[in-house]
Amino acid sequence: EEPGLPLDDAAPTLPQLARDASACTRCPLYEPATQVVFGEGPANAPLMVVGEQPGDREDISGRPFVGPAGQLFNEVAAQAGLDREQAYVTNAVKHFKYVQRGKRRIHQKPAASEISACRWWLEQELSSVNPDLVLAMGATALHALTGNGAGILKRRSALEQTRDGRDLFVTVHPSYLLRLPDEDLRESETARFRDDLSRVQELLE
Ligand code: URA
Repeated sequence: EEPGLPLDDAAPTLPQLARDASACTRCPLYEPATQVVFGEGPANAPLMVVGEQPGDREDISGRPFVGPAGQLFNEVAAQAGLDREQAYVTNAVKHFKYVQRGKRRIHQKPAASEISACRWWLEQELSSVNPDLVLAMGATALHALTGNGAGILKRRSALEQTRDGRDLFVTVHPSYLLRLPDEDLRESETARFRDDLSRVQELLE
């Protein structure tokens, strides 16, 4: 034992990871983005919620799920008895990807190479938080976490496993609900999303 030496084989803490991620150049998305949007929530949260990537509002504020999709998630989670504040909330990709159209920045889907470059951070977060359950919201998170790119609509509302053997529950992304043009379908799909979040809460109890 050598007193005074840093314990550099200890797992990095979340604040350390977030600081390191702010200097990430593993893929080209860091350049046009305003800042990294790292995960946030309790360091030992029982639940880790994973979305796709930050949007315009998240890019500006530096916090995950604060825009329209995040507000819908908060609302439905509250209805389902799931407390967002108890969850560690993050994204599969940690920089906003967009094309500029006049004054608007239009969200672009991350490429497979960007998702796989960013998976390094997601796996660091998984090891650090060590949640009992992971909630994948949408196809990007599901693919990144499981390695299986099969369609999400056949896999939703069910338990799977992450690459490293953790329990993972599958649901749709709240943005999918916001985009549904048909009001009846939006209502029924939102109800199913609410049921999924209730299941997640039950699994945690
Ligand atoms: N959509 C996501 O997937 N993540 C966010 O943080 C915001 C919107």
